[in-house]
Amino acid sequence: MKQKIRKYCFPLGISAAALVLLLVAVFAVFLFKKEQQPPTLRVGVAVYSQEDTFIHSLVQDFEQMAHQRESEEGIRINLNIVDAKSSQLIQNEQIEQLISLDYDVLCVNIVDRTAAASLIDWASEAGIPVVFFNRQPVREDLLRWENAYYVGAPAEQSGILQGQIALELWQNEREQVDRNGDGILQYVILEGEPGHQDTLIRTEKCVQVLTDAGIRAEKLVSDSANWSREQAAVKTTQWWADYGAEIEVVFANNDDMALGVLDALSELGAEEPYPIIIGVDATREALEAVQSGKMSGTVLNDGTGIAQALLELSLSLYQGENPAGRVDLEDGHYIWLPYRQVTQKELPGDGS
Ligand code: GAL
Ligand code: CA
Repeated sequence: MKQKIRKYCFPLGISAAALVLLLVAVFAVFLFKKEQQPPTLRVGVAVYSQEDTFIHSLVQDFEQMAHQRESEEGIRINLNIVDAKSSQLIQNEQIEQLISLDYDVLCVNIVDRTAAASLIDWASEAGIPVVFFNRQPVREDLLRWENAYYVGAPAEQSGILQGQIALELWQNEREQVDRNGDGILQYVILEGEPGHQDTLIRTEKCVQVLTDAGIRAEKLVSDSANWSREQAAVKTTQWWADYGAEIEVVFANNDDMALGVLDALSELGAEEPYPIIIGVDATREALEAVQSGKMSGTVLNDGTGIAQALLELSLSLYQGENPAGRVDLEDGHYIWLPYRQVTQKELPGDGS
């Protein structure tokens, strides 16, 4: 029997000592390889809804940039993207899970802005920095912990830029804008989700720009379409039946809703020129609509800049650096990415 085993185990005539040496060598190589593995930054990215056009492309940018930076920084960057499907309960569970898995940084696009305090407390107990983005917690909540941050675009600026686009058209192309010639600008507003800072502030500011400039403006109707193209199309169909050609300007809190207006108008066979339609985000499809003249303008919401800032902040927190060395930190907690106006004249290839 012994003979048999010997024959079976050492068919090449390797002695037991040599075998031990071989095993030790294999183990050493294994350990060495493990040592050689670059460190890994693990970021949990919790988004309110992956179906949202703007958030979807922001996350894509984040993934692409992280991939590109891996080789430059000599570390691995692992983004775990989780989708709350618009439920704060689901998001809470996802955050708890990411915390229990000891992620290095949490980037949170919170569903319900008023739920930030508990998330910040959980993160601080676990010692994991938390970076909110695009959906802004109130200031008192963010100041609960030194490692809570917000990366976003200043809502007020987007509303002002929308108002300025309308103002300029009113001043320079009055005949076309003031369809009924009564010297009053009749407008409607398609609002985003109720309670979202961008909904509240864009809605207020776009009109304030007009009234501050001494223009008489009359609201025909406004309602929420929850950032959704489909919901905006349904609302527009209704409004077109109620007000039709009286509508001179449509302020949409985002581009998807502005595109929903176009969908409805084309479905209804409405005659061109359409009323002035102004959105926010500068999504690819909205830029095409601006280029073709169907939309009068939009406002660039810098999702790429937000993604870049999330990456820089995550890297510096992971490496234990002071984030202010890599990003522009305001009040130790805020990173702001400016908005930009986009009308035909800002688009390339317009020849002006
Ligand atoms: C806004 C954006 C909307 C929507 C929303 C989600 O900034 O304009 O299109 O993406 O954020 O929070
Ligand atoms: Ca009018």
